[in-house]
Order: sequence, then structure tokens, then C-alpha cells
Amino acid sequence: MQYSLRIDPDRRVGEVHPMFFGHFIEHLGRCIYGGVYEPGSPLADEHGFRTDVLEAVRAIGVPILRWPGGNFASNYHWEDGIGPQEKRPARFDLAWRSVEPDTFGTEEFLAYCAALSTDDQPCEPYICLNTGTGTLDEAVRWLEYCNLDADQYPTYHAKWRRELGRTEPYRVKYWGIGNEVYGAWQVGHTTAAAYADKCVQYARFLKSVDPGVKVIAVGADDPEWDLEVLRRAGPVVDYISIHQYWGNDTHYGTVAAAAAVERRLKLLGSVLDVAEAGLAKDAPIEISFDEWNVWYRGRSRPWEEFYALKDGIFAAGVFNAMYRQCRRVTMANLAQMVNALGMLHTTPTALVKSPLYHVFEFYANHTGRTVLDAAVVADDAAARETLSADIAVHVYGRPEPRPKPIKDVPYVDAVATLRADGHLSVAVVNLHETDRATLRIDLASVPAAARQSVQVHELTGPDGMQQNTVEHPDAVSPTTRRIDQWTGSIDLSPRSVTVLEWGT
Ligand code: AHR
Repeated sequence: MQYSLRIDPDRRVGEVHPMFFGHFIEHLGRCIYGGVYEPGSPLADEHGFRTDVLEAVRAIGVPILRWPGGNFASNYHWEDGIGPQEKRPARFDLAWRSVEPDTFGTEEFLAYCAALSTDDQPCEPYICLNTGTGTLDEAVRWLEYCNLDADQYPTYHAKWRRELGRTEPYRVKYWGIGNEVYGAWQVGHTTAAAYADKCVQYARFLKSVDPGVKVIAVGADDPEWDLEVLRRAGPVVDYISIHQYWGNDTHYGTVAAAAAVERRLKLLGSVLDVAEAGLAKDAPIEISFDEWNVWYRGRSRPWEEFYALKDGIFAAGVFNAMYRQCRRVTMANLAQMVNALGMLHTTPTALVKSPLYHVFEFYANHTGRTVLDAAVVADDAAARETLSADIAVHVYGRPEPRPKPIKDVPYVDAVATLRADGHLSVAVVNLHETDRATLRIDLASVPAAARQSVQVHELTGPDGMQQNTVEHPDAVSPTTRRIDQWTGSIDLSPRSVTVLEWGT
């Protein structure tokens, strides 16, 4: 299969927002307890945070971290998680039928975000509010606790934070108004109209406490729901969310789903165009893709799955899609970071990095933030063949996945970006299960790149089903090689993700 990548460096698609590389930690299975937080473990630091997990996620950067759910958020009372840990009440969690010890609460979460922050890149906390069993009062008090200056506004909750040792407000900027309330599985399940009216109340009064906050409305990946919510709540919200889980036990059924993700993101962009045409509002409403992943194996306790190479290739396809849709999509959070649907897995003594983790490392560390207009063109008959597959979209509360056939998916897909230092980077996926491909990249339009050496990072493996396990943690691991003199094309392994980085 022969392809060419045509790059037009003068036409810029847009800027990739740093928050594309966000994560999500929920009180679900072993995500928090045993993943993020394990006091008493020889691997934990003085806060009880697993240092091996911290080190792994610091290496890819966490620009934004969503918490405490997900479904869990809709029955979480934040005050249960404040103050001396031995006095905190354990509660029955309705979302996952678990006992929540409440030893990891707001202070622990914000300390974790601080531990993930660097001078170059803060880790922004993103709190998802309880619109199920919670109230507006409770949400406002949470915001007071986190963000009010206790001298200027000496309220009970602002002073409470100060008494517990934190004088400076935390300035938590991102607040989600509920989670997936369109679904019967959600505590607080409701209609689009009822949700939107509630959302207006929350957004308006959260912003009256702190005008600097940004709020995220619940989108449903359903144009009717989304349009209703945007028409009613659009004037006061900053983002609309979308959640998507894909995948099945076949290579193509998983990797081709990234093309469907792009179609859904574009569809939501069009819904926003329609809604905004009727709204008197200057700032555009942005898309927060705040849950995405492959999820079809671990659908019940302990909600864990070991991701395979094909799942990593899917994630690379999703990054390519998000890069192209970067004018609307400005935040994304993989669901989830560790253990529960985790890109990382812990045992009491070890950490396993999945292919998904390595794909994050590729895109976060080796691609640029300015997306260039680029097109992959098929140069021979084999490359003109496209992929058809039965893909499956998974919605949490529905026992059976919704099957969806997809057609016309090219085997090779690429994005071209410029890094901050002006150098070119190209990220390519070859979805083909058995065939190699050649990608010609014409650098005539990017003459500076032609003179530079290029680093080639590749993730592939003998089989799309290959996983990293405790016994074989490096079965799927990246390789890097250098090409000193660019010869005009790159050979792509079957089932591979490749990032070419010029000038490094
Ligand atoms: O990420 C797991 C669950 O999937 C989340 O709690 C929920 O929002 C979604 O249904």
C-alpha cells in the first residue's frame, strides 16, 4: 500500500489545546483506592499517593484531572470527605454498589493535582458536581470552600478551608454540572429540559460566587438532547460534554471505531453551530470530550481491562480525530487513568503501562500543537481499498452494545503539526492487520524539515490482541530510531502507530 501525505503549512487547522491530554479518576473499583492512593504501601509517599503511578503520569503530563466521577459523582457529598480522616463517614455508593470510605476527599484530590503540576504545566482540577442527591446549596458551598478568599468573604466554608491549613484559595476553575443525567442508570436521571433549567441555576449561581469558573453542561452524544440543553442553558455554559466508549474483540472492530468518534465529534460541532445561531453569545461553546476509551471487557466488578495494541491504535486514531476537530474540541479526559478502565495497572508491588499509555506519551511529548492542513492520498490500488467493520458503541446502562457497521475507513491516517520550536511532527496510524504501508511525505512545502534528521517513534507488535501484563509488562513497548537523512518516505509496520519528529 502506497500513500502520500500532502501538507500545506500555510493553512492551519487550529491549535491543539493542552487539555486534550487530560485524565479522569473516579471512585470506582481500584482507581482511587489502590491506584492513586494507597497509604501504607511501601510504594506510597507521605500523602499516601502511589509514587510509581505519579511518576508514570508525570512523564506524559496531566493538564487536567476530572474527579470524583462519573456515576459516583451523582451521589457524592463532598463534606463527608473533609477533616480528620478517622471521623469521616463511610457511605454506601449507589452508583457502583460499593462502600466509599471517604478517606480520599477534596483536600487529597487537590494535593494530588499539585503533585502532578510542574512549572511548565499546572494540573487543573475539574470537579464534577452532584446534581443527583446533591443540591445547589451544597455545590455553592463546595465552590466557597475551594475558591473564596476567607478574608474577603469570611463564610463558614471559606474559613473551614483556612482552619484546615490552606489560606490561599485553590481557584478550581472547571466545574461539571452533573454527569450523564440522560441515562436511567444515573442518580438524578432527568429530561433534557429539566436538566437544562437546573444547569442554568447552577451555572448562574456558581458564577456569582466566582465569576472565573468555567462550567461544563451534560451532553448526551444525542443531537436532540444536546440541542435542547444548548438552547436553554447555552447562554451560561462554557462547554458541553460528550462521552464515548468503543471496542470489541476484533482488531478492525476496535481500530475503525476512531473514524466513528470523529463523525460524532463533528456532529456535535454541527449541533453547536445550530444552537449558537440562535444564541446571542460571543464566546463559542467548546466540546469537553470528558470520557473516552475502549470499554467492552470489564463491564462489571472490578471494572478493569488490560488494553491491547489494537486499543492503543484506536486511541491514536482518536487523537488524530481530535487534532482535526481542535477548533471545537478543547478538552478531553481518558476514562480512566489507573486500574478501573485504566491505562495503568497496579499490583501491590508493580505497575503495568498499557499500549494506551504509550500512545499518550507519543502524542503528548512528540507532536506539535499547531495542526497543519494535511491530506493522506492513496497512490496505488491497494491503498485505495478501504476498511469496513462492525464496530460497537457501549453505553454504560445498556447491557448490550449498539452494533454499528462502518465503511470507507482508510487504512492509513495522519496528522501533521508544528511544535513550539517550529519543527514538524507527523503522527500516522496504519490500521492494517497484516500489510505494511509506505507513506511518502513531500517536504518541498516544509523545506526546513527536509534538511533535518528525524526521530521515528513506533508502537507495534506481533498481534493486535497483544497486551502488557504483570508477567510481560513490555510485550508492547515503543521503539525510537533516528534517520539522519530523510529519503522521502517511511515504511509503516502493520498494526502500528508512528510519530516522526523532525529536528530533534
Ligand atoms: O467511566 C466509567 C463510567 O462510564 C462513568 O462513571 C460514567 O460517567 C460512564 O457511564
